[in-house]
Amino acid sequence: ELYALIMAGGKGTRFWPESISKKPKQYLSLTSEKSLLEETLERFDRFIPKEKRFVVTVKEQEKLCKASSKGKINSNGIIFEPTGRNTAPCILMSLASLLQKGLSEDDVITIVPSDHVILNKKGFHSTIKKAADFAHKNQQIVTIGITPNFPHTGFGYIQKGKLLNEEAFKVSRFKEKPHFELATEYVKSGQYLWNAGMFVAPIRVFLEEFAEHAPLMFKHFEALMDTVKNPVKLKKVYEKLPSDSIDYAIMEKSDRIAVMPANFDWNDLGSWDALSTVMEETHGNTVVKSDGEFFLNSADNVVFAPDKFVALINMDKHIVVVNDKVVMVAPVADAQEIKKIVEHLKKAR
Ligand code: GDD
Ligand code: MG
Repeated sequence: ELYALIMAGGKGTRFWPESISKKPKQYLSLTSEKSLLEETLERFDRFIPKEKRFVVTVKEQEKLCKASSKGKINSNGIIFEPTGRNTAPCILMSLASLLQKGLSEDDVITIVPSDHVILNKKGFHSTIKKAADFAHKNQQIVTIGITPNFPHTGFGYIQKGKLLNEEAFKVSRFKEKPHFELATEYVKSGQYLWNAGMFVAPIRVFLEEFAEHAPLMFKHFEALMDTVKNPVKLKKVYEKLPSDSIDYAIMEKSDRIAVMPANFDWNDLGSWDALSTVMEETHGNTVVKSDGEFFLNSADNVVFAPDKFVALINMDKHIVVVNDKVVMVAPVADAQEIKKIVEHLKKAR
């Protein structure tokens, strides 16, 4: 049987000021009235019913997570981590929790992030279905691959090996977040896909790969199984797990991975500028939110100003973000620098 596990415990700093650590990216409503987490859950509507969906988050995001997933998962559908220790411990702990909730090692889990925009639900559905069938038949971890269009250094890169069936390729190498020169080589070679951050496999396969490639983490699995229903005891066990991402801990090392090229659009929305690629333009600009606007000879700006009237004159290619407490203006080309504001504010406090 097929289940979904949505990871929603990350922080997300490049969407400041909207994503101050109390409201990470997955809870923002950017491209619609719904939060990214809500959209992620709805993406499963056609094929994974709500009682088979789970969201894993950290305790401090409990309220946000409940509000965002209301009606789209069962009441026991949220799995809480005592603290954030990155995605590898998060997944291992979730697997223990799912087994304790009655799932079997034979059940197939689709693990997905909650911070992406995917508009083509049909394509998503068909790709994941195929990935799940393949993972089950071949007892492998299936990743979803996106054709890269520039050397982004914030993604994992997957080298396609030989074709295993009409659609899945063996992964001959997985490299998480390569530096710019390497990423440039990869993109040029035409052999690499971006890792979409989704992993589909039977629980058994995940556990076997943890045991083999992350023994220091996996040695706590029994203890996780014993304590996962008791938050106080779980916290003590969880603190012992080394913090690491699933990409470094498992994906770079395992030789049981296949990649299925995505049959859908995919946008990581890494920062404000990315919104221009997923939203309709208003007079040549991307207006995410506002209460009216006036653009005089201004184009290619990204505006986020809920309940504010925005006027721009002779200004191109800027990000303009306004909320009750903050005004921020930056060139689109410097969107990645916004995380420096967060670093600065952390130090100042
Ligand atoms: N519950 C929980 N706990 N969730 C977490 C934690 C944690 O400690 N850390 C991160 N997450 C969630 C995030 O909210 C996000 O939805 C997902 O897990 C992935 O984490 P990110 O921190 O956003 O990872 P990344 O973007 O740096 O890299 C991953 O995604 C890329 C695609 O966007 C990797 O898998 C890359 O290889 C991939 O290309
Ligand atoms: Mg991410």
